[in-house]
Amino acid sequence: MNTVLSLVYLLATGTFIAGLKMLGHPETAKRGNLIAALGMGMAIAGTLLLHTLEVPVFVYALIVTAIVLGGIIGWLIAVKVEMTKMPELVSLFNGFGGASAALIGLVAYGNTATDTSTAIMATIIAGVIIGSTTFSGSFVAWAKLNGSMRSTISLPKYNLINNLVALGILLFGTFLVWTGTDNLLYLYLLALAALVYGVLFVIPIGGADMPVVISLLNSLTGIAAAITGILYDNMVMLVGGILVGSAGLILTFAMCKAMNRSLSNVIFGGFGEAVSSERGAKVAGHIKKTSPSDTAVLMNYADNVIIVPGYGLAVAQAQHVIHEMETLLTDRGVNVRYAIHPVAGRMPGHMNVLLAESNVDYDKLIEMDDINPQFVHADVVLVVGANDVVNPAAHNDPSSPIYGMPILEVENAKHIVVNKRSMKPGYAGIENELFYHQKTAMLFGDAKAALTDLVSELKNM
Ligand code: TAP
Repeated sequence: MNTVLSLVYLLATGTFIAGLKMLGHPETAKRGNLIAALGMGMAIAGTLLLHTLEVPVFVYALIVTAIVLGGIIGWLIAVKVEMTKMPELVSLFNGFGGASAALIGLVAYGNTATDTSTAIMATIIAGVIIGSTTFSGSFVAWAKLNGSMRSTISLPKYNLINNLVALGILLFGTFLVWTGTDNLLYLYLLALAALVYGVLFVIPIGGADMPVVISLLNSLTGIAAAITGILYDNMVMLVGGILVGSAGLILTFAMCKAMNRSLSNVIFGGFGEAVSSERGAKVAGHIKKTSPSDTAVLMNYADNVIIVPGYGLAVAQAQHVIHEMETLLTDRGVNVRYAIHPVAGRMPGHMNVLLAESNVDYDKLIEMDDINPQFVHADVVLVVGANDVVNPAAHNDPSSPIYGMPILEVENAKHIVVNKRSMKPGYAGIENELFYHQKTAMLFGDAKAALTDLVSELKNM
């Protein structure tokens, strides 16, 4: 490899690391994303222009066409996608990343120029297995997230079946490496088995465990890319893959921690099975309704108000009006803060990103562990479009699928107002006794409409 290309790769690698670091804070995240994308662009351009490849011109033409077409499709999708649909898009990206790694493995296997040493063969086999599993698993996750597939499908004895299939794939892969066979049919069979495993692996998982699975698949995509980097002795692919793999794994464990569950419990524990409205204790009682004007009075004369944003705030796109309400109250001397649950919404950091859009001061966004002791001092808690993340069943109903998940302990506040459109459950599909709590009043309606009314009531006071 020539020195200039090595330097380009080194620079690109630096941008990935810097970009990833910057993604850690909402203020720098956008710039970080752009810097890393620029690095990736440099690496691609460098490879095309500086790599000594003896391929016909039409191959270059094919590559450029694919880049242009892929770039246009990616651009259009990214511009159009709604924030609430981001996890679906991430799943698709993961799937395509896995497919690329698997295809590269298949091509390298059939290529006579490929080194047939045991280490390279093992790398190819690992790439095909991980890439194929990630591809099919990600597409199942995508189908579940967009509602075209039932949340959880558990075959009888699915754990045993899954483990046997995984073991079979590993043994078959080892056999291929051991014998060093160049029979492509075997490799196709292996890829097929891994595709089936990806489906079997994801179908029993569902409900509130989906974020964990998606970040795990994201991490696997990175590992598959890193393997490809080893195969082609390409530093930038290797480092990029390792960064995605490790960042995805860190996120996976952070999600598990946020839900108080171990990774093995998510994968083998059948948490997903439990996610249906039939599980968890039935909740009965009376609900109290309130109006925007009563809520405005309650908040206007409060000292401490905590807002709990959830998925519904994103659906209603009410981030700007909620900020307006918060500013109005703050100007009148009310201490207003936002309680941020790690899995509120539909993607990691969803609430932070959403509220950053409307320029909410980051100091007002308080993470769950820090805000929970503060609820006892809150005069009013306003829950906007959140449900599972404030469901006390996580604490006191062992039959509930979310039992053990840390929640925002809003029931400790003096008054609770919950804004949502109906009594329908949230993502986990379970009822919420908070809505029947004697301290709770329900403010029914779309979040944007309800908050707009609330703001005009506040302005009239
Ligand atoms: P959810 O439990 O999903 O509840 C959202 C609530 O918002 C619903 O009950 C819905 O009730 C209400 N809503 C919907 N549209 C609304 C609108 N326009 N105006 C007002 N309310 C509206 O949300 P959450 O509390 O944020 O919890 C997140 C859930 O998603 C967790 O179970 C989590 O595990 C899961 N999950 C999270 C992620 C990540 S990484 N954050 C990814 C995938 C899944 P109505 O229909 O009655 O209005």
